[in-house]
Amino acid sequence: MKRKIQIAIDGPASAGKSTVAKLVAKKLGYIYCDTGAMYRAVTYAAMKKDIRLDNDKDLNQLLQKLSIEFVPANPEQKVYVDNVDVTKEIRLPGITNNVSIVAAQSSVRTDLTKRQQQIAQAGGIVMDGRDIGTTVLPNAQVKIFLVASAKKRALRRYKENILKEINTPLDVLEQEIIERDYKDSHRKISPLVQASDAIEIDTTELTIDEVVREIMKIIENRLN
Ligand code: CDP
Ligand code: CDP
Repeated sequence: MKRKIQIAIDGPASAGKSTVAKLVAKKLGYIYCDTGAMYRAVTYAAMKKDIRLDNDKDLNQLLQKLSIEFVPANPEQKVYVDNVDVTKEIRLPGITNNVSIVAAQSSVRTDLTKRQQQIAQAGGIVMDGRDIGTTVLPNAQVKIFLVASAKKRALRRYKENILKEINTPLDVLEQEIIERDYKDSHRKISPLVQASDAIEIDTTELTIDEVVREIMKIIENRLN
């Protein structure tokens, strides 16, 4: 049997990370971990409790008692915060536009990084986020950095939103994506940055299947 490895997939918003990470994990029979969902879950819990999103101390207290669970389900895994299913809620624009503030707080990053490293201990993991190849799994055997033009990424989000009956105009979405990328790349702790040993794939003109195929080739080369 082939050895089980860690696969880190990082990149900016809507580069296709979670879609391809899920498919790659399925092909390999690995666990998939969406670390963005964890930052979204904390943001959701903080907003519910009226905690200031830049209050590191209060967020730290919140995290001491907060349970975040992923439960496999079809078509997408469910996310539970303190045993409540928040899968849909954490994707709403109110969370999306605030999550970068919470994700910049040091206690949040320390806590979630630990949780992510614990999940990865099982081996055979595909984890996606912003700092997986640099901070969470610096020894991952395969590191991928997905990028795509902001225009294309906004269009992808726009199409997704239509299905969810969210009507944010395309130019507003593009601006929001650019702002979130800026915040994620310029924070002090674990900013969004390509690991020196990551392989970059530009997905602007690639289909999901093409990206998955390219990543599977990289993984197979590494495994052989
Ligand atoms: O799916 P989308 O690209 O919109 O974002 P996400 O992966 O759900 O992540 C939401 C936000 O969480 C990001 O914009 C980051 O602010 C934060 N995040 C992070 O800081 N570190 C990670 N490893 C994953 C997400
Ligand atoms: O996780 P991340 O925010 O990087 O992106 P995603 O949620 O996986 O993908 C955002 C949207 O782009 C989804 O609706 C994907 O189906 C779509 N997508 C695409 O059309 N072509 C790709 N090559 C990758 C993703």
